[in-house]
Amino acid sequence: MQLFRDPSSAADWCRAELRAGERLGFVPTMGALHEGHLALVRRAKAECGRAVVSVFVNPLQFNDPKDFERYPRDLDGDARLLAGVGCDVVFTGTLEQFFPEAGGDRARIAWREPGASALGLEGALRPGHFRGVATIVERLFEVVRPTRAYFGAKDFQQTLVVRELARELGYPEIVVCPPLREPSGLARSSRNELLSADERARAVSIHRGLSAARELWHDARERAPAKLRAPIVAAIAAGGLELEYAEFRDPDRWTEREPVGPLERAVALVAARAGAVRLIDNLRLDGPLG
Ligand code: PAJ
Repeated sequence: MQLFRDPSSAADWCRAELRAGERLGFVPTMGALHEGHLALVRRAKAECGRAVVSVFVNPLQFNDPKDFERYPRDLDGDARLLAGVGCDVVFTGTLEQFFPEAGGDRARIAWREPGASALGLEGALRPGHFRGVATIVERLFEVVRPTRAYFGAKDFQQTLVVRELARELGYPEIVVCPPLREPSGLARSSRNELLSADERARAVSIHRGLSAARELWHDARERAPAKLRAPIVAAIAAGGLELEYAEFRDPDRWTEREPVGPLERAVALVAARAGAVRLIDNLRLDGPLG
Protein backbone atom coordinates (compact mmCIF):
# COMPACT_ATOMS: atom_id res chain seq x y z
CA MET A 1 0.00 0.00 0.00
CA GLN A 2 1.20 3.49 -0.80
CA LEU A 3 0.70 6.52 1.41
CA PHE A 4 0.69 9.98 -0.19
CA ARG A 5 0.84 13.07 1.99
CA ASP A 6 -0.11 15.29 -0.89
CA PRO A 7 -3.32 15.04 -2.97
CA SER A 8 -1.53 15.85 -6.25
CA SER A 9 0.64 12.71 -5.92
CA ALA A 10 -2.50 10.69 -5.24
CA ALA A 11 -4.13 12.25 -8.32
CA ASP A 12 -1.14 11.22 -10.48
CA TRP A 13 -1.37 7.65 -9.22
CA CYS A 14 -5.13 7.51 -9.82
CA ARG A 15 -4.83 8.92 -13.37
CA ALA A 16 -2.21 6.28 -14.24
CA GLU A 17 -4.44 3.49 -12.92
CA LEU A 18 -7.47 4.78 -14.83
CA ARG A 19 -5.40 5.03 -18.02
CA ALA A 20 -4.36 1.42 -17.48
CA GLY A 21 -8.05 0.47 -17.45
CA GLU A 22 -8.40 -0.08 -13.70
CA ARG A 23 -11.58 0.73 -11.77
CA LEU A 24 -11.16 2.83 -8.65
CA GLY A 25 -13.28 2.29 -5.53
CA PHE A 26 -12.98 5.32 -3.28
CA VAL A 27 -13.71 5.67 0.44
CA PRO A 28 -13.44 9.21 1.83
CA THR A 29 -12.85 9.33 5.60
CA MET A 30 -11.70 11.58 8.40
CA GLY A 31 -9.52 8.83 9.88
CA ALA A 32 -9.47 7.26 13.36
CA LEU A 33 -10.65 4.27 11.39
CA HIS A 34 -12.83 1.50 12.79
CA GLU A 35 -14.59 -1.59 11.45
CA GLY A 36 -17.32 0.56 9.84
CA HIS A 37 -14.75 2.28 7.64
CA LEU A 38 -12.88 -0.97 6.95
CA ALA A 39 -16.07 -2.65 5.74
CA LEU A 40 -16.39 0.10 3.11
CA VAL A 41 -12.76 -0.40 2.02
CA ARG A 42 -13.15 -4.19 1.74
CA ARG A 43 -16.21 -3.71 -0.43
CA ALA A 44 -14.47 -1.10 -2.60
CA LYS A 45 -11.56 -3.47 -3.13
CA ALA A 46 -13.79 -6.47 -3.89
CA GLU A 47 -16.00 -4.60 -6.35
CA CYS A 48 -13.49 -2.35 -8.10
CA GLY A 49 -10.10 -4.05 -7.89
CA ARG A 50 -8.40 -0.88 -6.63
CA ALA A 51 -9.26 0.72 -3.29
CA VAL A 52 -8.32 4.34 -2.59
CA VAL A 53 -8.92 5.95 0.81
CA SER A 54 -8.58 9.57 1.89
CA VAL A 55 -7.93 10.54 5.50
CA PHE A 56 -8.57 14.23 6.07
CA VAL A 57 -10.16 15.88 9.09
CA ASN A 58 -11.92 18.48 7.01
CA PRO A 59 -12.09 21.78 8.91
CA LEU A 60 -14.71 23.13 6.47
CA GLN A 61 -17.43 20.85 7.85
CA PHE A 62 -16.93 21.48 11.58
CA ASN A 63 -19.30 24.12 12.84
CA ASP A 64 -17.82 23.73 16.34
CA PRO A 65 -14.06 24.49 16.53
CA LYS A 66 -13.72 22.47 19.76
CA ASP A 67 -15.15 19.42 18.00
CA PHE A 68 -12.51 19.87 15.27
CA GLU A 69 -9.65 20.12 17.80
CA ARG A 70 -10.85 17.12 19.79
CA TYR A 71 -11.46 14.93 16.74
CA PRO A 72 -9.21 11.83 17.06
CA ARG A 73 -6.24 11.60 14.68
CA ASP A 74 -3.97 8.58 14.14
CA LEU A 75 -2.63 8.37 10.57
CA ASP A 76 -0.05 5.66 11.35
CA GLY A 77 -2.67 3.45 13.01
CA ASP A 78 -5.05 4.10 10.11
CA ALA A 79 -2.39 3.14 7.54
CA ARG A 80 -1.71 -0.15 9.38
CA LEU A 81 -5.42 -1.03 9.40
CA LEU A 82 -5.82 -0.12 5.73
CA ALA A 83 -2.82 -2.19 4.66
CA GLY A 84 -4.52 -5.16 6.35
CA VAL A 85 -7.70 -4.91 4.25
CA GLY A 86 -6.14 -4.64 0.81
CA CYS A 87 -6.21 -0.88 0.39
CA ASP A 88 -3.96 0.23 -2.50
CA VAL A 89 -3.54 3.92 -1.72
CA VAL A 90 -4.22 6.16 1.24
CA PHE A 91 -3.73 9.87 0.92
CA THR A 92 -4.03 12.95 3.04
CA GLY A 93 -3.16 16.62 2.68
CA THR A 94 -3.58 20.05 4.19
CA LEU A 95 -6.44 22.43 3.51
CA GLU A 96 -4.01 24.53 1.43
CA GLN A 97 -3.04 21.47 -0.64
CA PHE A 98 -6.66 20.55 -1.29
CA PHE A 99 -7.58 24.10 -2.29
CA PRO A 100 -4.37 25.61 -3.68
CA GLU A 101 -6.35 28.17 -5.69
CA ALA A 102 -7.62 29.72 -2.42
CA GLY A 103 -4.11 30.38 -1.09
CA GLY A 104 -5.20 29.60 2.47
CA ASP A 105 -8.12 32.05 2.33
CA ARG A 106 -11.42 30.30 3.02
CA ALA A 107 -13.39 33.07 1.36
CA ARG A 108 -11.71 32.15 -1.94
CA ILE A 109 -12.58 28.46 -1.80
CA ALA A 110 -15.03 27.44 -4.54
CA TRP A 111 -17.73 26.33 -2.12
CA ARG A 112 -20.23 23.75 -3.33
CA GLU A 113 -23.75 24.44 -2.13
CA PRO A 114 -25.51 21.25 -1.08
CA GLY A 115 -28.96 20.39 -2.42
CA ALA A 116 -32.34 20.23 -0.69
CA SER A 117 -31.43 17.15 1.36
CA ALA A 118 -29.18 19.39 3.46
CA LEU A 119 -32.28 21.12 4.87
CA GLY A 120 -33.44 20.15 8.35
CA LEU A 121 -31.92 18.00 11.11
CA GLU A 122 -28.10 17.93 10.78
CA GLY A 123 -28.24 20.77 8.25
CA ALA A 124 -30.28 22.91 10.63
CA LEU A 125 -28.40 22.08 13.82
CA ARG A 126 -24.92 22.26 12.30
CA PRO A 127 -25.00 25.36 10.10
CA GLY A 128 -22.57 25.10 7.20
CA HIS A 129 -21.81 21.43 7.89
CA PHE A 130 -23.15 19.98 4.64
CA ARG A 131 -21.70 22.84 2.63
CA GLY A 132 -18.31 21.81 4.04
CA VAL A 133 -19.01 18.15 3.28
CA ALA A 134 -20.16 18.84 -0.31
CA THR A 135 -17.15 21.10 -0.93
CA ILE A 136 -14.53 18.59 0.26
CA VAL A 137 -16.26 15.58 -1.31
CA GLU A 138 -16.38 17.33 -4.69
CA ARG A 139 -12.65 18.13 -4.39
CA LEU A 140 -11.82 14.57 -3.29
CA PHE A 141 -13.76 13.25 -6.29
CA GLU A 142 -11.70 15.54 -8.54
CA VAL A 143 -8.49 14.15 -7.04
CA VAL A 144 -9.46 10.48 -7.41
CA ARG A 145 -12.06 10.48 -10.25
CA PRO A 146 -13.45 7.30 -8.73
CA THR A 147 -15.50 4.74 -10.60
CA ARG A 148 -17.51 4.18 -7.42
CA ALA A 149 -17.50 5.92 -4.05
CA TYR A 150 -18.59 4.20 -0.84
CA PHE A 151 -20.48 5.82 2.04
CA GLY A 152 -22.03 4.52 5.26
CA ALA A 153 -25.75 4.70 5.99
CA LYS A 154 -24.85 5.64 9.56
CA ASP A 155 -24.71 9.20 8.23
CA PHE A 156 -28.07 8.95 6.50
CA GLN A 157 -28.55 12.59 5.56
CA GLN A 158 -24.94 12.80 4.32
CA THR A 159 -25.60 9.94 1.89
CA LEU A 160 -28.49 11.97 0.41
CA VAL A 161 -26.32 15.08 0.09
CA VAL A 162 -23.58 13.05 -1.61
CA ARG A 163 -26.03 11.35 -3.97
CA GLU A 164 -27.36 14.76 -5.00
CA LEU A 165 -23.81 16.00 -5.55
CA ALA A 166 -22.90 12.98 -7.68
CA ARG A 167 -26.05 13.45 -9.74
CA GLU A 168 -25.05 17.07 -10.42
CA LEU A 169 -21.46 16.14 -11.29
CA GLY A 170 -22.53 13.16 -13.40
CA TYR A 171 -20.20 10.82 -11.46
CA PRO A 172 -19.27 8.68 -9.55
CA GLU A 173 -21.61 5.81 -8.82
CA ILE A 174 -22.50 6.05 -5.10
CA VAL A 175 -22.71 2.89 -3.00
CA VAL A 176 -24.29 3.11 0.44
CA CYS A 177 -23.35 0.41 2.96
CA PRO A 178 -25.23 -0.61 6.12
CA PRO A 179 -24.01 0.78 9.45
CA LEU A 180 -21.66 -1.40 11.47
CA ARG A 181 -22.42 -1.68 15.17
CA GLU A 182 -20.60 -2.82 18.27
CA PRO A 183 -22.03 -5.99 19.84
CA SER A 184 -23.94 -3.70 22.24
CA GLY A 185 -25.76 -2.10 19.29
CA LEU A 186 -23.85 1.18 19.53
CA ALA A 187 -23.06 2.41 15.99
CA ARG A 188 -19.32 2.44 15.40
CA SER A 189 -17.98 5.96 15.20
CA SER A 190 -14.60 7.65 15.48
CA ARG A 191 -16.18 9.84 18.17
CA ASN A 192 -16.85 6.77 20.35
CA GLU A 193 -13.14 6.95 21.25
CA LEU A 194 -13.87 10.18 23.09
CA LEU A 195 -16.47 8.55 25.38
CA SER A 196 -15.65 7.47 28.93
CA ALA A 197 -16.49 3.83 29.78
CA ASP A 198 -19.63 5.03 31.56
CA GLU A 199 -20.74 7.26 28.66
CA ARG A 200 -20.12 4.46 26.20
CA ALA A 201 -22.34 2.12 28.19
CA ARG A 202 -25.08 4.75 28.35
CA ALA A 203 -24.76 5.58 24.64
CA VAL A 204 -26.27 2.16 23.90
CA SER A 205 -29.63 3.72 24.84
CA ILE A 206 -29.75 5.36 21.38
CA HIS A 207 -29.93 2.05 19.57
CA ARG A 208 -32.16 0.62 22.28
CA GLY A 209 -34.68 3.41 21.66
CA LEU A 210 -34.47 3.05 17.87
CA SER A 211 -35.04 -0.70 18.14
CA ALA A 212 -38.04 -0.17 20.42
CA ALA A 213 -39.56 2.18 17.82
CA ARG A 214 -38.97 -0.46 15.16
CA GLU A 215 -40.75 -3.04 17.29
CA LEU A 216 -43.73 -0.69 17.67
CA TRP A 217 -43.80 -0.26 13.90
CA HIS A 218 -43.89 -4.01 13.31
CA ASP A 219 -45.66 -5.50 16.34
CA ALA A 220 -48.24 -2.78 17.05
CA ARG A 221 -48.33 -1.42 13.47
CA GLU A 222 -47.85 2.02 14.97
CA ARG A 223 -47.48 4.73 12.30
CA ALA A 224 -47.95 7.98 14.25
CA PRO A 225 -44.66 9.91 14.66
CA ALA A 226 -45.49 11.05 18.22
CA LYS A 227 -46.19 7.47 19.36
CA LEU A 228 -43.09 6.10 17.65
CA ARG A 229 -40.98 8.85 19.20
CA ALA A 230 -42.01 8.02 22.77
CA PRO A 231 -39.80 4.92 23.30
CA ILE A 232 -36.80 6.70 21.78
CA VAL A 233 -37.19 9.69 24.08
CA ALA A 234 -37.71 7.35 27.06
CA ALA A 235 -34.66 5.17 26.34
CA ILE A 236 -32.38 8.16 25.84
CA ALA A 237 -33.64 9.79 29.05
CA ALA A 238 -33.08 6.50 30.91
CA GLY A 239 -29.52 6.44 29.56
CA GLY A 240 -28.94 9.95 30.88
CA LEU A 241 -28.07 11.35 27.44
CA GLU A 242 -29.20 14.73 26.22
CA LEU A 243 -31.51 14.32 23.21
CA GLU A 244 -31.11 16.83 20.38
CA TYR A 245 -33.70 15.32 18.08
CA ALA A 246 -35.60 12.11 17.40
CA GLU A 247 -37.48 12.47 14.15
CA PHE A 248 -38.80 10.46 11.23
CA ARG A 249 -38.47 10.91 7.51
CA ASP A 250 -39.66 9.06 4.44
CA PRO A 251 -36.36 7.39 3.38
CA ASP A 252 -37.30 7.79 -0.28
CA ARG A 253 -38.35 11.44 -0.14
CA TRP A 254 -36.38 13.79 2.11
CA THR A 255 -38.31 16.68 3.64
CA GLU A 256 -36.97 19.51 5.74
CA ARG A 257 -39.57 18.75 8.40
CA GLU A 258 -41.04 15.54 9.69
CA PRO A 259 -44.04 14.43 7.62
CA VAL A 260 -47.38 15.18 9.25
CA GLY A 261 -49.81 12.30 9.86
CA PRO A 262 -49.30 8.56 9.68
CA LEU A 263 -46.01 7.45 8.12
CA GLU A 264 -45.95 5.21 5.07
CA ARG A 265 -42.23 4.39 5.19
CA ALA A 266 -39.87 5.61 7.87
CA VAL A 267 -36.30 6.04 8.91
CA ALA A 268 -35.87 7.19 12.51
CA LEU A 269 -33.01 9.64 13.03
CA VAL A 270 -31.47 10.59 16.36
CA ALA A 271 -28.82 12.99 17.62
CA ALA A 272 -27.89 12.96 21.30
CA ARG A 273 -25.06 14.10 23.52
CA ALA A 274 -23.16 11.89 25.93
CA GLY A 275 -21.21 14.44 27.93
CA ALA A 276 -19.35 16.58 25.41
CA VAL A 277 -19.65 14.05 22.59
CA ARG A 278 -22.39 14.37 20.00
CA LEU A 279 -23.58 11.07 18.52
CA ILE A 280 -25.94 10.39 15.63
CA ASP A 281 -27.64 7.19 14.57
CA ASN A 282 -30.64 6.07 12.54
CA LEU A 283 -32.70 2.99 11.86
CA ARG A 284 -35.07 2.06 9.08
CA LEU A 285 -38.38 1.12 10.71
CA ASP A 286 -40.15 -0.41 7.71
CA GLY A 287 -38.86 -3.39 5.76
CA PRO A 288 -38.44 -6.94 7.03
CA LEU A 289 -37.15 -7.53 10.57
CA GLY A 290 -33.74 -9.13 10.48
P1 PAJ B 1 -16.13 9.72 8.59
O1 PAJ B 1 -17.01 10.07 9.74
O2 PAJ B 1 -14.71 9.34 8.84
O3 PAJ B 1 -16.84 8.56 7.81
C1 PAJ B 1 -16.31 8.09 6.59
C2 PAJ B 1 -17.32 7.13 5.99
O4 PAJ B 1 -17.49 6.01 6.86
C3 PAJ B 1 -18.71 7.79 5.85
O5 PAJ B 1 -19.29 7.41 4.62
C4 PAJ B 1 -19.47 7.22 7.02
O6 PAJ B 1 -20.87 7.16 6.84
C5 PAJ B 1 -18.86 5.83 7.12
N1 PAJ B 1 -19.09 5.26 8.45
C6 PAJ B 1 -18.86 5.84 9.65
N2 PAJ B 1 -19.27 5.04 10.64
C7 PAJ B 1 -19.77 3.93 10.06
C8 PAJ B 1 -20.36 2.72 10.55
N3 PAJ B 1 -20.52 2.50 11.85
N4 PAJ B 1 -20.77 1.80 9.67
C9 PAJ B 1 -20.62 2.02 8.32
N5 PAJ B 1 -20.07 3.12 7.80
C10 PAJ B 1 -19.66 4.06 8.66
O7 PAJ B 1 -18.29 11.00 6.98
C11 PAJ B 1 -17.18 11.52 6.98
O8 PAJ B 1 -16.08 10.96 7.56
C12 PAJ B 1 -16.92 12.86 6.30
O9 PAJ B 1 -18.07 13.64 6.35
C13 PAJ B 1 -16.43 12.73 4.83
C14 PAJ B 1 -17.50 12.05 3.95
C15 PAJ B 1 -15.12 11.95 4.76
C16 PAJ B 1 -16.16 14.15 4.25
O10 PAJ B 1 -15.21 14.81 5.00
